[in-house]
Amino acid sequence: MTLKPEDIASSILPTAGGLDRNIAMELCRVTEAAALAAARWMGRGNKNALDQAAVNAMRDRLKVIQMDGIVVIGEGEKDEAPMLYIGERIGNGQEPKVDVAVDPVDGTTLLSKGLPNAVSVVALANQGTMYYPPGIVYMEKLAVGPAGKGVCSLEMSIEENIDALAASKGERVDDLTVVVLDRPRHEKLIDRVRATGARIKLISDGDVAGGIMPSLPDTGVDMLMGVGGSPEAVLTAAALKCLGGDIQCKLWPRNEDERAQAEKLNLALDQVLTIDDLVRGDDVFFSLTGVTDGELVKGVHYFPHGATTETLVMRSRSGTIRRIQAVHNFEKLEHYADLAGI
Ligand code: FBP
Repeated sequence: MTLKPEDIASSILPTAGGLDRNIAMELCRVTEAAALAAARWMGRGNKNALDQAAVNAMRDRLKVIQMDGIVVIGEGEKDEAPMLYIGERIGNGQEPKVDVAVDPVDGTTLLSKGLPNAVSVVALANQGTMYYPPGIVYMEKLAVGPAGKGVCSLEMSIEENIDALAASKGERVDDLTVVVLDRPRHEKLIDRVRATGARIKLISDGDVAGGIMPSLPDTGVDMLMGVGGSPEAVLTAAALKCLGGDIQCKLWPRNEDERAQAEKLNLALDQVLTIDDLVRGDDVFFSLTGVTDGELVKGVHYFPHGATTETLVMRSRSGTIRRIQAVHNFEKLEHYADLAGI
């Protein structure tokens, strides 16, 4: 189908009401504000302070967006997180009704040590469409780019997945790079990946960025495998819906209590959760701003009286991916609003 200019214009221009409005552009300001607030704490070894700074800034921006939002993926339960807690209502209370998933900084340890790939992330979708498994902290994950969609699956073995991806990409297995969180629980996984001949990139944290890398060119990463946070899985699913990649997960209870919790909630531990189970529908908005430099985006860079940021802003329905490089002039912003008003 050839799009007429007026069709293209209507897919770009915001329209009133519902998720027809391109909220992604507003989310860009949310993650920019969080990244700018958090980046000041780079390398200071204080994870709590950097997270708090990002949470405050993110909440200040989210609360003024025209939406009736519920935080589905957030900073934790209400009693442990005063802000952006799961169940918190956010936005100005007007339509559209949306689920909101936030990770003000994914990679708090990375940022506290000044390491690459700390990012600030927000996703938004119709209310009731995001998956949240209460009390099950981890999921086993397999994330691939568009070449692996419909080709790789958590029903297949590690070796079969690597072979299938290499065939689909027309590459040799030893050309592929699999990103894995560097954790003792992945010892066997790492051995098996190495035995296939594929290359490995071990990351110390940040599997949202790691899960997105296979879907973007020039990151040098083809696949993410291993166990990481459940909230991060949902955020990654939101991003991959926009990018045409794929993620599949299985709940990964850490202990008997979590197993019992899964049973109580009727959550099948052997079920493969597809990208559509993690985020249903095709009205998904996603924004990611770099806090430290990484494969996906540059981090916050300061200059006298200002800073630059780089953000990936995406919308699943249109498939539009924007890379927004912004220059923030602190002197001008001071006269016009507080820094959260960037
Ligand atoms: P935080 O920024 O919240 O610390 O999360 C970082 C992270 O590496 C995630 O990207 C990942 O999903 C999770 O932690 C892995 O958990 P763990 O460090 O317990 O293995």
